[in-house]
Amino acid sequence: MNAPSVFQTAVPVEPATAVEPMIEIIGLKKYFGHQHHPVRAVDDVSFSVARGEVVGLVGESGSGKSTIGRSILKLIEPTAGQILYQGKDLAGLSQRAMRPYRRDLQIIFQDPYASLNPRMRIGDIIGEALDTHNIKQGVARQERIIELLQLVGLSAEHTKRFPYEFSGGQRQRIGIARALAVEPKFIVADEPVSALDVSIQAQVINLLQDLRQQFGLTMLFISHDLDVVEYLCDRIVVLYLGRVMEIAPSAELYRAPRHPYTEALLGASPRPDPDARRERKLLRGDIPSPINPPSGCVFRTRCPYASQECSETVPSLREIAPGRWKACLRDDVL
Ligand SMILES: Nc1ncnc2c1ncn2[C@@H]1O[C@H](COP(=O)(O)OP(=O)(O)OP(=O)(O)O)[C@@H](O)[C@H]1O
Ligand code: SF4
Ligand SMILES: [Mg+2]
Repeated sequence: MNAPSVFQTAVPVEPATAVEPMIEIIGLKKYFGHQHHPVRAVDDVSFSVARGEVVGLVGESGSGKSTIGRSILKLIEPTAGQILYQGKDLAGLSQRAMRPYRRDLQIIFQDPYASLNPRMRIGDIIGEALDTHNIKQGVARQERIIELLQLVGLSAEHTKRFPYEFSGGQRQRIGIARALAVEPKFIVADEPVSALDVSIQAQVINLLQDLRQQFGLTMLFISHDLDVVEYLCDRIVVLYLGRVMEIAPSAELYRAPRHPYTEALLGASPRPDPDARRERKLLRGDIPSPINPPSGCVFRTRCPYASQECSETVPSLREIAPGRWKACLRDDVL
């Protein structure tokens, strides 16, 4: 494909991860809008998710998280780059060619209100997921629906009810049951708890953790809140303005962030009590426009460590310790 130069992919950096990648994203770009002044929603992003791993994708609003999630599921077509699912590149596949993979790749949406059809009973919503992929008929189908509801902490009596009869947390449980119905190989959970009350968030995270242990789920867990992903995720990918800033194992990232943006996201104070952390403000100042991102390092307009070089050189994502990657020109600061 002959794309204009602005769309060309740089040599992809491919952060090496565990042995068997389920998903590998290499040099992913998604530009929206006009070719000459595109919104660079995702700009040369590479990372992978190993089988059985839960990777957190974190960044402020507009950093490109959903665009990456939607690209993996081919709900949108990437501008450039590869999306390898078990080694097979999904980028560029037609809808028809995607069909065999649809069942394997599922999504849990942020808004459990909008993502459930209000006119359908819960049993039918989950049944529809089974029917789409011809999984189970008759009594076996009904049993499977009940089994799925029980798995997420609901019960058989809920099959006849409509979405409006449930709380937000319960609806998200239904969304999770629907995603699990087809026994997916890979799940994108796009801010699955962001719309829920804080107390309910923990319950849904615990549920996902249980399900993860039970089924060895492989998942990309998207969140704008670092606090939410800590417990569930093995590794974290930190995104800013469509670019990866840092990748690290969860525990290490929280203990010692190595990128100024991650440090700012975590806040200056070392691990205050949970409630205080929740109220903590994210960074001061706005994210620059992805139509006209800063030269050099895209984070430089908000970075306390920015130097002259940061406006001239684009930092590449490089491995600074085994399993730890960062895109920052300065090693002397963190
Ligand atoms: N269909 C579209 N057309 C034009 N621009 C888009 C489209 N979808 C997303 N964008 C832009 O791409 C950028 C990334 O959006 P995206 O939704 O991926 O961010 P996000 O990290 O998921 O944010 P949030 O936390 O708010 O969900 C934003 O600047 C957004 O306005
Ligand atoms: S490259 Fe410069 S501006 Fe960017 S994060 Fe590092 S120090 Fe800050
Ligand atoms: Mg989003």
